[in-house]
Amino acid sequence: MTTGSKPKIILDCDPGVDDAIAIITACRWTEIVGITSVSGNVPVEHTTSNALKMKKLLNIEAPIHSGASRPITSEPFHASHVHGQTGLGNTDLPEPDGLADSDDAVGFILEKTREEEGIHLIPIGPLTNIALAIKADPSLVNRVASITLMGGGAGIGNVTSAAEFNIFADPEAADLVFRSGAQLNMLGLNLTHQVLMGSVHADYCYALDTPVGKTAGDLLNFNGRTHGTEKGANVGAMHDPCAVLAVSHPDLFISKHRSVVVELEGSHTRGQTLVDEREWVDTEKNCNVYYEVDSEKVIELILQAVSEVDPSG
Ligand code: RIB
Ligand code: CA
Repeated sequence: MTTGSKPKIILDCDPGVDDAIAIITACRWTEIVGITSVSGNVPVEHTTSNALKMKKLLNIEAPIHSGASRPITSEPFHASHVHGQTGLGNTDLPEPDGLADSDDAVGFILEKTREEEGIHLIPIGPLTNIALAIKADPSLVNRVASITLMGGGAGIGNVTSAAEFNIFADPEAADLVFRSGAQLNMLGLNLTHQVLMGSVHADYCYALDTPVGKTAGDLLNFNGRTHGTEKGANVGAMHDPCAVLAVSHPDLFISKHRSVVVELEGSHTRGQTLVDEREWVDTEKNCNVYYEVDSEKVIELILQAVSEVDPSG
């Protein structure tokens, strides 16, 4: 990426309240060359429809390709209790104008990264599409600039005390990705729980008096209620935009090269991203684990995206 130009990304997502905020953030700070949807927070029919609704709201030119309707081996696992029955909280966006450009997210990821090297893959849902793409063509990991994912956590989970949702929903997919040799950047809960947004940020968005501001306000209010990490406070972790901003604004983050494995067997720990913090042990480091973030600046950039994204093109 030359200085001043925006990084090219493919956003693989399961909208999802925070995924929707990530799409707004990506519109402003990156060049989205494609969006792929995956079963996750809600079934893929809804995640795809929600991505299309955001495409319409933001007048996104990039194509949307729907992907995996279920994990590689385990049963589908959703989080409608966190994101609402259809996945976008209580927003009232109009139905999409059309269908996705295809139902072959994997084919799109492989074809686009062959056409153009140096694209960042940014998965912010379960890693099913990414794993299936790597399985189909392992050389994918050498063509992309990075796989920068929201998922996992160093010593913290949310579905269980050990496992974070995106990994827990498809641990076999995550295991394949973490063993792929990709330039892997992991923004886990230990990082994203430092970025808290809720009603005060929603009020800023509503005051913009724009369709994007209204939708962002609704999403942030809903996020504050359902992603609440501080009981009673109407603020919640804003997970997914962190992965986008780690690519567009890397200087706002601090990461360390670590060995990370995905637990598949543990009766209490299945889906855990086990991070080896033993810096004195010579292990194969397969991932940059993110630990620190300039939360204030990240929140500022998310709100700037809401205020500056111009759907009129
Ligand atoms: O654990 C948080 C992650 O799971 C976020 O990506 C959220 O959208 C859900 O998919
Ligand atoms: Ca997500």
